[in-house]
Amino acid sequence: MKHVKTKKITKLIVDAEKKAHKETKGDIEPAFAAPVKWPVDCVVGPGLEGAIACESKIGYVNGSKGELIYQGYNIFDLCAYSTFEEVSYLLLHGNLPTKPQLSSFNEKLIEYRNIPNTIGTLMGFPIRTMSAMAALRAGTNFMRYECTYADSPDYIPDRSKIISADEDSIPMETIPMGEEHAIYEFKKGVKESKDAGLDLHPPEGYPACYHLISGVSSVAGAVARIRQGFLPIAFDPELSHAANLIYMITGKKPTPVEERVMDVALILHADHGMNASTFATMVVASTLSDIYLAMGSGIAALSGPLHGGANEEVLKMLEEIGSVSNVASWYKHARAKKKKIMGFGHRVYRAYDPRARVLGPLAEHLVNEGGDAQAKTMLSIAKALEKEVISTLGAKKGIFPNVDFYSGIVYSCLGIPPDFFTPIFAVSRAAGWTARVMEYLKHNRIFRPRAMYVGSFDRKYKQSAGKDKKLKKK
Ligand code: ACO
Repeated sequence: MKHVKTKKITKLIVDAEKKAHKETKGDIEPAFAAPVKWPVDCVVGPGLEGAIACESKIGYVNGSKGELIYQGYNIFDLCAYSTFEEVSYLLLHGNLPTKPQLSSFNEKLIEYRNIPNTIGTLMGFPIRTMSAMAALRAGTNFMRYECTYADSPDYIPDRSKIISADEDSIPMETIPMGEEHAIYEFKKGVKESKDAGLDLHPPEGYPACYHLISGVSSVAGAVARIRQGFLPIAFDPELSHAANLIYMITGKKPTPVEERVMDVALILHADHGMNASTFATMVVASTLSDIYLAMGSGIAALSGPLHGGANEEVLKMLEEIGSVSNVASWYKHARAKKKKIMGFGHRVYRAYDPRARVLGPLAEHLVNEGGDAQAKTMLSIAKALEKEVISTLGAKKGIFPNVDFYSGIVYSCLGIPPDFFTPIFAVSRAAGWTARVMEYLKHNRIFRPRAMYVGSFDRKYKQSAGKDKKLKKK
């Protein structure tokens, strides 16, 4: 029965894939999809744009073709036929799970939904006055205390795990290949801590990744409830990851269609190359700080308006437009004022974002299935605006809808409050963040770019008069 109700969703995704094949051409970009021979030559722009930081098998974004791949699988196939649990396993372990692997992975994820100490600690914080992402970040960092004693006053670090290869001991002017000894120490550190047999779960390694992927959704659920003035809801072990997330945030068990749509949305957001939050997570992890603190940094990066959060702005924009008949004049005015249209354009994609290709039809499906009058108006405005933007900026500048254009409408139809759109993004990205950290740590090298010094060198030091007076007083 559940399968029959969600069959339409599979068809919509398959149709979206066919459309993508028809409309976008292009090949693999050799500059971003080939083994690296270090040191690598690349053209680097400000903000490290174009820089190659590492090799990865986890995912690939082909910006000119509008293609997204996880571990070799096209995103359309994963959305049509997989679940978020399977995709998380795939990202972390490189292959889709067998039946027994999936069942033990699911068991672990369900066990790790239970984070009573974290929720208890969170409840003592001013969650209602903090931003949702600040609260999510705090909760993720508190999860660390569920599994490590590292911050207790009695904790004595094992000196054998302290890595000698920090930035003071690696000669910074060496070619960037990793000093032999340093690489050995890093590998040793990771392996030793994995086998260390701590009393609780190890603070690194795959169990910590599972703990984070699962636990962060419980944190999101608790934060959402507290911010709405309710007590957190206990997780339901019978529900899938997607269904439990909706349940813990809204207090309502989703229909099979709602569950499936959330599942697809989570898959679509699980990984997306070396974006700012992924890079932030990896930079912190590369210091061998633990993965909880590393993921907290990813959440912090995602909280910035240039990264997560455009979907909330899209809804505000659609509300401001107000009706389909206003679209053309609103757009003309916005263009004249050189306004960026929210939900369009992307740093990497110069084609239609494949995630938007899936989310657009899903938004329409949800609205048609039971959306209220406001949702119907929002969708009609969005579709009219899409036509205007593509006809003027599509071919000319490669500006097409991005993932955020339709996701706000989708989440609204699922009953998710707008301030929870970005936390949901973080909940799904936990899979990509942890997978990329685990991959990078296998050949870890602490991130350490250089800044070009453009200051002066020969300024003469002159003690200030104020400082003189202070010294005299003493
Ligand atoms: N609306 C209108 N014009 C746009 C838009 C847009 N949304 N995005 C880019 N352009 C135009 C720019 O004005 C610029 O035109 P010009 O050449 O005449 O100066 C050209 O396209 C290139 O723009 P850049 O800003 O250089 O593009 P960049 O790749 O740096 O920006 C970004 C990408 C930040 C996403 C931008 O498209 C934008 O601000 N979009 C709106 C916000 C948004 O939707 N963000 C979500 C992105 S997806 C995500 O983060 C999950």
